[in-house]
Amino acid sequence: MDGPSGTGKSTVAKRLAERLGAAYLDTGAMYRAVTLAVLRAGVDPADGAAVLRVAESTDLRIDAEVGAHVHLADEDVSAEIRGPEVTLAVSAVSAVPKVRERLVSLQRRMISEARAVRGGIVVEGRDIGTVVSPDAALKVYLTASADARAKRRSKQDSAAGRAVSVDATLADVERRDRLDSSRAVSPLRPAADAVEVDTTDLDIDGVLDRLIALVDERGLRA
Ligand code: DC
Repeated sequence: MDGPSGTGKSTVAKRLAERLGAAYLDTGAMYRAVTLAVLRAGVDPADGAAVLRVAESTDLRIDAEVGAHVHLADEDVSAEIRGPEVTLAVSAVSAVPKVRERLVSLQRRMISEARAVRGGIVVEGRDIGTVVSPDAALKVYLTASADARAKRRSKQDSAAGRAVSVDATLADVERRDRLDSSRAVSPLRPAADAVEVDTTDLDIDGVLDRLIALVDERGLRA
């Protein structure tokens, strides 16, 4: 499942995995964890070579489960990776080609293990259908208007105790879309065979119903 932030992607992906009894992987959390390590190392996120050195020495741990916590070595960083500093720097870190190579190969290993052990996995990100898993049985690309996405994001921020205005959030949503869609390596875009679902006027249950219907049409339930 791919698409920009604020489309309801994370919520829907987790709920879908639960409904299907499948494993689940949030690849954005992996880019965020590396970004946190970069910031803590005092490295400039725009310095690709230095960012790569941090990524290579980072002991990133995440399980392919709904509700999995993200660890850097033994430290649980699940909350910190959602903070504004990481959100601001993550596009630069995720644009470094060799950082992507490392994370993509880890993601592919986790996906094939989950397929073998659990029978299936829901994976969310920006390049899952195009790069990470081009042979996925179902590719979904979620979209929504920038306005709707900014409103959803600021709701999440205030629920998590982060006070950010809708205008600032809209600016950040548009900035990250631009960076994520225009980067040279694995830009955010739908795979040719992805099903696009516009969530602007759908609530979470509406999106979930649509995805369950697609899963059933393709006979993907175990
Ligand atoms: O989904 P998210 O907002 O947590 O993702 C954080 C950032 O990570 C996002 O700005 C783009 C990047 N990302 C990526 O480049 N490729 C992925 N598969 C997932 C996320």
